[in-house]
Amino acid sequence: EEIKVFCPATIANVSCGFDVLGLALEAVGDEMIVRKTAKKGITITKIIGQDLPLETSKNVSGVAGLAFLEKSDYNGGFEIEIQKNIKPGSGIGSSAASSAGAVWAMNELLGRPFSNLELVQFAMQGEKLASNVAHADNVAPAIYGGFTLVRSYNPLDIVPIPTPNELYATVIHPQIEVKTSDSRKILKTNITLEKGIQQWGNVGGLIAGLFQSDYELIGRSLQDHIVEPIRSILIPGFDELKSNAISAGALGGGISGSGPSIFALSKGMDTAQKVADSIKKTYQNIGIPFEIHVSKVN
Ligand code: HSE
Repeated sequence: EEIKVFCPATIANVSCGFDVLGLALEAVGDEMIVRKTAKKGITITKIIGQDLPLETSKNVSGVAGLAFLEKSDYNGGFEIEIQKNIKPGSGIGSSAASSAGAVWAMNELLGRPFSNLELVQFAMQGEKLASNVAHADNVAPAIYGGFTLVRSYNPLDIVPIPTPNELYATVIHPQIEVKTSDSRKILKTNITLEKGIQQWGNVGGLIAGLFQSDYELIGRSLQDHIVEPIRSILIPGFDELKSNAISAGALGGGISGSGPSIFALSKGMDTAQKVADSIKKTYQNIGIPFEIHVSKVN
């Protein structure tokens, strides 16, 4: 018995929501085939597209799968085959796609013994392997779809947020690798009250904008006064790119997850495509090779 699943790429943080907000991309992601086996444990048989470890304990889908098996009363095991389209270190949730996809597929094969919240908890073990921190802001949208809020880590509380119908993301991935663990190390661990006020104002605004399909409010709320000023230094052309995206019609944008990918959100596919064209021109001048994606948020 086997199942083939789509494992979406995700944008974590979404500017103002460091470690708590995330969204899933409908049209960008990996594919995974998961098969039940009589043999216990998790066996990763094949990874196509990227050079990643097959050893269970070194692979994020293996580690997430083991966390699943540990809590399950199922007596067999699983085999995993991955078509890995999302590059590791790209900032669009490569490790989350594999971790979430594996546990999602296993749960389907066993008749859904676990809730989405429990699946997020298993998938977080994969994130811990990838970045030393079990953050949930990529795996939660990968499992729930759309936008999600991690209201609390302890206890884990995930809130799915409705996604306006015409919300599209444009994501550019400059072909440099930034490890999440490295781009977390450079962050300051304290913030001022003033910055806190700006940030939670924007988080509240973004959530309200999503609920009300108020695209202008979504755009105004896509600001990050804490993480972006530090991390953007690692991304060539960041400021220029962001302002060009907004001039081309984007509602707003920022760093996707821990970078180096940059995202912009737009109302409607046509605008998102115009934003992509404008970003392309900017990046061609910078001279670093890149990939670009346009996708509905869903
Ligand atoms: N919230 C995490 C970070 C996401 O920004 O480090 C990593 O994809």
